[in-house]
Amino acid sequence: MTDTLDKAVWKTLGSVTFPGLSRDIVSFGFVDRVTVEGAEASVHLVISTHKTKEAQELREEVRRVVEAIPGIDRARVELQLTMPTSAAQQATARNPSLIPHVQHVVAVASGKGGVGKSTVAANLAISLAQLGYRVGLLDADIYGPSVPTMFGISDRPRVDAQQRVQPFEKFGIKLMSLGFVVDADTPVIWRGPMVMKALEQLLGDVEWGELDYLICDFPPGTGDAQLTMSQRVPMAGAVIVSTPQDVALLDARKGLAMFRKVNVPVLGIVENMSTFVCPHCGEETAIFKQGGGERTATELRTAFLGRIPLDAEIVLGGDSGEPIVVAKPDGSHAAAFRQVAESVVQAVAAQEAQRQPLTIV
Ligand SMILES: Nc1ncnc2c1ncn2[C@@H]1O[C@H](COP(=O)(O)OP(=O)(O)OP(=O)(O)O)[C@@H](O)[C@H]1O
Ligand SMILES: [Mg+2]
Repeated sequence: MTDTLDKAVWKTLGSVTFPGLSRDIVSFGFVDRVTVEGAEASVHLVISTHKTKEAQELREEVRRVVEAIPGIDRARVELQLTMPTSAAQQATARNPSLIPHVQHVVAVASGKGGVGKSTVAANLAISLAQLGYRVGLLDADIYGPSVPTMFGISDRPRVDAQQRVQPFEKFGIKLMSLGFVVDADTPVIWRGPMVMKALEQLLGDVEWGELDYLICDFPPGTGDAQLTMSQRVPMAGAVIVSTPQDVALLDARKGLAMFRKVNVPVLGIVENMSTFVCPHCGEETAIFKQGGGERTATELRTAFLGRIPLDAEIVLGGDSGEPIVVAKPDGSHAAAFRQVAESVVQAVAAQEAQRQPLTIV
């Protein structure tokens, strides 16, 4: 009986959402424990947020919905709030950040090329802006920058009197790419120290201003760019993009291992090109094995941040200078990217909570 009530409580909590987030509190990992003894239920919530008022309201709502379950007379809800401290706040005097006004630097990376890093980075950045955050997108793929094409920008950035480079602004985010300054037709052969110098300029010489998130689109693999970045700015974490095939997942593991080695937390895995959506009938087919990203995330003890289907509309968005979340903000793909964005916000907050002792409310 208690066991069934226990399940009933989890199920009910699975329909409760935190204000401003579209997913339920269970899948966000806010529910730490549920115990039921007789007709009394205890729910333990652990939430990393600055929004203390909303968290208190949520506690009341949880109490209300759990007490409405037949067989439960009383619900006790304990709430633990953790205050996120950003990686930026952790920068030390000995190792100052090149971009002190950026709260969270998030890398988008993969072990393998062509899995959709740039597509995910661009749509993730815009989705975060659509959720109300101040966002920048840094195209750190010095070998094959894609931000100029994806955002349809071919101009050169403006440099002000103080020699500060002004980022472009489009679709609500600030943009910078080496592609804006390097000739598209000139093959660039970069060696380690040049990569470092170029990236330092993209970070330090650009007037990013105050940002909540700076999303960095990396070249594939585990090379100099990732290493430089992790040394020059405190990074909130890395999002690993993978396709569902086993080989791609194997490469995703390498990417994961690399970030862990340089002490950058891995925020989780996004499975891109997950299923094929028929443009005629809308039916979804798993061309590759489905669920691989989720399995790998569980195996590697990292979060699964969401899946993006394989769809020609997404390619079109990338080629036309108007990413899909802008072209079709109310569509299902935009919703998928929004969910990834919310998961990233949550994963960043969870990472930051680990750097901070819990405060109990
Ligand atoms: N979900 C998707 N559905 C369909 N096509 C996609 C999807 N995601 C990405 N693509 C397409 O796949 C190609 C590669 O994507 P993208 O450039 O984002 O990958 P990448 O990992 O950044 O590549 P690189 O390693 O070369 O930087 C592009 O043509 C893009 O439009
Ligand atoms: Mg790319």
